[in-house]
Amino acid sequence: MYIKNIKLSNFRNYEKADIDFSDKVNIFVGKNAQGKTNILESIYLSASGSSFRTSKDREMVRFGDDLCRVVTEYENEGSGKIEISIGKDGYKKAKINGKTVSKASDFMDNIYVVVFSPEDLKIVKDEPEKRRNFIDRELCQLSVSYLVDLYNYKKVLLQRNAYLKEERVDENILRIWSDNLIKYGTKIIIERKKFVGRIAEISRKIHAGITAGDEDLFVRYAPNIKAADDPTEQRKIMAEAMEKNLAEDMKLRTTTIGPQRDDIELLVDGINIRKFGSQGQQRTAALALKLAELELIKSEKEVTPVLLLDDVLSELDPERQRYLISSLSGIQLFITATEISEEVSTAFPDGKVLSVENGKMLKL
Ligand SMILES: Nc1ncnc2c1ncn2[C@@H]1O[C@H](COP(=O)(O)OP(=O)(O)OP(=O)(O)O)[C@@H](O)[C@H]1O
Ligand SMILES: [Mg+2]
Repeated sequence: MYIKNIKLSNFRNYEKADIDFSDKVNIFVGKNAQGKTNILESIYLSASGSSFRTSKDREMVRFGDDLCRVVTEYENEGSGKIEISIGKDGYKKAKINGKTVSKASDFMDNIYVVVFSPEDLKIVKDEPEKRRNFIDRELCQLSVSYLVDLYNYKKVLLQRNAYLKEERVDENILRIWSDNLIKYGTKIIIERKKFVGRIAEISRKIHAGITAGDEDLFVRYAPNIKAADDPTEQRKIMAEAMEKNLAEDMKLRTTTIGPQRDDIELLVDGINIRKFGSQGQQRTAALALKLAELELIKSEKEVTPVLLLDDVLSELDPERQRYLISSLSGIQLFITATEISEEVSTAFPDGKVLSVENGKMLKL
């Protein structure tokens, strides 16, 4: 699949833009703070209905304006069009192929996108929440039922926690909340276990490729409640764990266990790279995870996602750049850079280069 054209009005620092893309390689070049990442953000917004940089939609509206609009034309076994309008006041309206949509799940199966940006280093370095977000974001792209289960789980968790803060907590009422949590939690744990297992397998191969076989990446699901493969078994494990922690939950007035406390472990040659990895090792692991995600979408959905590479190439040494570039043929690429390296200009002689200056784009 690929994106043909994007039209922006009052989006971030773009007053108006109308850009045709190459179905192969698009390179945005410009100084800092000119609007390169903003373009990637608008593509991501069209694919998922939200930004990868902010959870506050209104931040995307151009300063001093009330409403921004993004219209994206794409090709995915036929042409498609996604229109999104966002207001400063919280207004949001989206249409996919002329039909008004309202839920995140409505965006599935239209544009598939994988983004890799310096922010993704946080998946490796930061607290477990970043790794859970990584799993959730990718799984939601692959499975509507996961998206719905996750939404329901979070809702019930909030309600259960609110109940635990009430003055008098009745054990039996609390158990009803637990049952609901177990219903959705079971599915989440099973899906996460499956997903991390597949990502582990693919990312290990990719990582071996990037490091020319020098280093071995091992990715492992570290669930807060023991994970099983079978739903009945999982339900039993979670139910027992919830019951065992009931008194603790009441004492601490919050839900103390569950997938909201899951993590993934990342080991290179047996060493936890979150704590002990070098910058380069952490970056390589993050890249391997992202490329694994791309492979997973390809094999599960039988579509080739578009790949957004934000400021990534310049951060890699030339050898790793070459590996990355060589593994990306047949994928529509959107690359941002402050200047075009020799590796890039050699690898993509017919890439479409667009220069970005202060919210304006020029074809070079
Ligand atoms: N809502 C907004 N309205 C107007 N301008 C905005 C808005 N949000 C961000 N900007 C501006 O957009 C510019 C940043 O754009 P962007 O993040 O795309 O830069 P960039 O070209 O990727 O830079 P870098 O190379 O530093 O990553 C800044 O000048 C910022 O002030
Ligand atoms: Mg940027």
